[in-house]
Amino acid sequence: MIRKKVIFTLFFMLSRIGIFISTAKLQNSISLSRNIRTVSAIMSKFELPERFKGNEKSVWVEYIQLALKYKPLNLGQGFPDFYAPENVTKALAAAATSENPLLNQYTRGFGHPRLVNALAKLYSKLLQRDLDPNNEILVTAGAYEALYATLQGHTSPGDEWIIIEPFFDCYAPMVNTAGGIPRFIALKPTKTTGKVTSADWVFDRKEMESLFNEKTKGIIINTPHNPVGKVFTEDELQFIADLAKKWNVLVVSDEVYEWIVYEPYRHIRIATLPGMYERTITIGSAGKTFSVTGWKTGWAYGPENLLYNLKVVHQNAVYTCTTPIQEAVAVGFEEEIKKFGQPDCYFHSLAKELLPKREYMAKFLCDVGMTPVVPEGGYFMVANWTALADKVRLQEEEDANKDYRFTKWMTKNVGVQGIPPSAFYSDQHKHLGEDNVRYCFIKKDENLKKAADILLKWKSQQ
Ligand SMILES: Cc1ncc(COP(=O)(O)O)c(C=O)c1O
Repeated sequence: MIRKKVIFTLFFMLSRIGIFISTAKLQNSISLSRNIRTVSAIMSKFELPERFKGNEKSVWVEYIQLALKYKPLNLGQGFPDFYAPENVTKALAAAATSENPLLNQYTRGFGHPRLVNALAKLYSKLLQRDLDPNNEILVTAGAYEALYATLQGHTSPGDEWIIIEPFFDCYAPMVNTAGGIPRFIALKPTKTTGKVTSADWVFDRKEMESLFNEKTKGIIINTPHNPVGKVFTEDELQFIADLAKKWNVLVVSDEVYEWIVYEPYRHIRIATLPGMYERTITIGSAGKTFSVTGWKTGWAYGPENLLYNLKVVHQNAVYTCTTPIQEAVAVGFEEEIKKFGQPDCYFHSLAKELLPKREYMAKFLCDVGMTPVVPEGGYFMVANWTALADKVRLQEEEDANKDYRFTKWMTKNVGVQGIPPSAFYSDQHKHLGEDNVRYCFIKKDENLKKAADILLKWKSQQ
């Protein structure tokens, strides 16, 4: 009797557990499918807006991760690994601890008065025309924001922008997300063996002419150029200027490396060519000018009517940039303006300081077996690596483009990191960048030597 009762109780309990489990299972699967429905509703409602699609990949995000993981000698990203000039860093410390409490508060939205005044003074002298500090200059969060405000502020859906490849990689996404259409034309080397310089990289004039049409809103130029180092000649700039005038289009001139030009070359501002100020927006960067890339302070200058659109974008996105940094940059400009033309003026001394580094890098890249493109300006060097193709196991990497495979393999197996230049080309022209790698030489001599030693040792072991 007792046994029967125990069996019955056990049976009853098991069946309850069974009912409980299957009810729980049912509830679980109902709540799972509800969850899936909720998640997919959330996903579809909050997925990346259409206008940003296709712009997700960033070479910088990917290669910073790579550097963090493999800890190579990093010649990839473009920033100095040495101290910035003392006058600007001290000016920043002084601004932050100033007796004037307002130097740590919001300043004028379109640019801190002391900075726009200093910029107006400098560029009025360089352009030989009086710039109005309040209406012809806009201070931005780096040259990056100046580019963004320009392209957002001057693009309506369907507007075409001519972009010269290789190009600083944000130009095309900025045009795309503003609803514009990038039209690409590549600089091509006229020479790939022997001593090659950035002057050997040119655009085809017929091809350039063929890109201009009624829908063209503007052209973006970058001189001195990243990554090739080309300093556009007056003749090339005049050719572009004539087309810009013929088709009534804007010129956006990215001149962030304006002070880094090597003798005997000269930086020419396209805004100074006849009839060009009226249709040019020129962009500069304190990060590049004073070797303080982390300060992310830039500017755009140009005629009031063109800058108006940028101001509208800026006031609705950023509104105002950091006050103490603008104060420090202003102090830097005031001091350099006083020394202008003298050898100790930072605008002239930086390129002199970089010249031996350029020569050193060009030599060790040659010794390793690459063909460097010696830059006329800027602090990057593009080098053809294909002579080393039988020494690198590209098949171990999965990327579609050979330069990505080369740079990743070198980072992981040799310990020196460069940037793949195909990142600076449109999808249809990526093959044009694949034979090259970009290295940066604004690095301490000891680090350049380490890079040379690593590469040469690797080469000798092959
Ligand atoms: C050609 C070019 N334009 C613009 C920028 C952006 O400058 P910033 O750091 O002032 O935003 C860079 C930075 O590397 C650059 O190389």
